[in-house]
Amino acid sequence: MEFSRDLDLLIRSRYPLVYIPTPEEQRAEDAIRGAAQKITPPRQVLMWDFVDGYDIGGGAKEDPLAALEFVRSRPADQSWVFVLRDFHRFLDDVRVGRKLRNLVRTLRSERKTIVLLSPSLKVPPDIAEDVTVLDFPLPTNKEIGAEMEQLLPKDKIKLDANSREALIKACQGLTMTRVRQVLAKAVAIDGVLDESDIALVLEEKKQKIKQTEVLEFYPTSEDLGDIGGLDNLKQWLNLRTSAFSDSARRYGLPNPRGVLLVGIQGTGKSLSAKAIAQHWRLPLLRLDVGRLMGSLVGESEGKAREMVRLAEAMAPAVLWLDELDKAFGGLNGGGGDSGTSTRVLATLITWMQEKTSPVFIVATANNIELLPPELLRKGRFDEIFFVGLPTDRERKEIFEVHLKRVREHSLRTYNLDRLVAVSAGFSGAEIQQAIVEAMHEAFAQQREFTTDDIVTVLRTTVPLSRTAQEHVDRLKAWAASGRARPASREEVKPLLGGGHPEWGPDEWSEQP
Ligand SMILES: Nc1ncnc2c1ncn2[C@@H]1O[C@H](COP(=O)(O)OP(=O)(O)OP(=O)(O)O)[C@@H](O)[C@H]1O
Ligand SMILES: [Mg+2]
Repeated sequence: MEFSRDLDLLIRSRYPLVYIPTPEEQRAEDAIRGAAQKITPPRQVLMWDFVDGYDIGGGAKEDPLAALEFVRSRPADQSWVFVLRDFHRFLDDVRVGRKLRNLVRTLRSERKTIVLLSPSLKVPPDIAEDVTVLDFPLPTNKEIGAEMEQLLPKDKIKLDANSREALIKACQGLTMTRVRQVLAKAVAIDGVLDESDIALVLEEKKQKIKQTEVLEFYPTSEDLGDIGGLDNLKQWLNLRTSAFSDSARRYGLPNPRGVLLVGIQGTGKSLSAKAIAQHWRLPLLRLDVGRLMGSLVGESEGKAREMVRLAEAMAPAVLWLDELDKAFGGLNGGGGDSGTSTRVLATLITWMQEKTSPVFIVATANNIELLPPELLRKGRFDEIFFVGLPTDRERKEIFEVHLKRVREHSLRTYNLDRLVAVSAGFSGAEIQQAIVEAMHEAFAQQREFTTDDIVTVLRTTVPLSRTAQEHVDRLKAWAASGRARPASREEVKPLLGGGHPEWGPDEWSEQP
């Protein structure tokens, strides 16, 4: 297991302070004991908690300072690992913080390692330099399988090889405690563990993800066909339809890493995130980055790590980082807790750089200026797409998509060309809104809605692109500088009499 190897290395290279954030205390302690035993010479492991003190002798009860003093006073010619449970609660205490820092200095020359074991990650800035955070992984497939067999008598397990694998896969992402609970529940219901219990496990997993409050399972039904325009993006995806298959791996292709979609409001970025997951038939996990940053002070980084681990445990999956710019608004002096944002950003970037698991990231943002440049560097995303205002042809497709949804059989009675002509500068969201508005008008008059109704609404609405002209122009300039690839394909010509200058890609435009 990678965890044991990493811990072994940290202990042997005399890292004095290792922080392991995990809710799985028991499993982690077993793993620490296992790792400590294998080192030569074997490390003696002592556990401390506030209520019971040290597990041998019960010293330093209810006294974190004494617990640290105990570490200091152990003979230096012996080898030790001290596991301090829930110690994050005491780190804000001036005396404890100071004592710990003094201690760290001497520990570097002795074979003593302090392991802080807590359900949450909270490192005060003054000791951040001395602490190494080590993630404790969720149970692997193999461990889950072994646990299943150990937990349940043979005659209760009614699974063939395939359904066994599917059930274990469904358990992925849960802590071992949860796995035990849900398996026990499954058997309690009808006496056996069989294929029908997969649904139960998946439900449990949804619950767990919901509890994180920043990650959610997002139901998807939209496919690429529900997006009007954005042909370059669609082509990019179509080329990668089988990119997550086993045959792609055997061929030697790496898993696609992710895309960043940047553009003004209502142009279909969120819609695209959903369609991408649907296109690959992968579960969509939406990470509320703003909410993640808003977690209790000092907790965001730990949460970010937890979310990343959860996403990996759910792989293959699409992880949607929605409105990424809002989260990093603080970094460039826009206010907010920039220390936290920096650390969360570092966590995310390291992960994006190193991940080999099939977790595809779709990040969406309105404001490129708020995004830290590190994030835009090569190697983080496979591609950065600029999603602009829809072109004539794209608006036609958008009208078609939405009219078809509500009037599939009378679609031909609407004059799409006329609608296109009066909707220059409107976003996809605004077009959809206009149709709904026209429907309300007509419905109130108890008649069918017509092209005229929509035209009237469009004529009396000011699109966002006009009120936010400056922002649109800046985005356009940024995209034109070649740092992003246009999601749309064709060149846009200003509409005669449209009143609003449209704009579009230059570099990559191809002849339609
Ligand atoms: N290209 C499009 N094709 C079809 N419908 C679209 C398109 N763009 C936007 N829409 C409609 O507008 C709705 C809102 O769009 P969406 O939420 O994807 O915008 P967004 O780019 O994520 O905006 P924001 O930046 O405000 O998050 C979509 O659910 C869809 O109904
Ligand atoms: Mg959106």
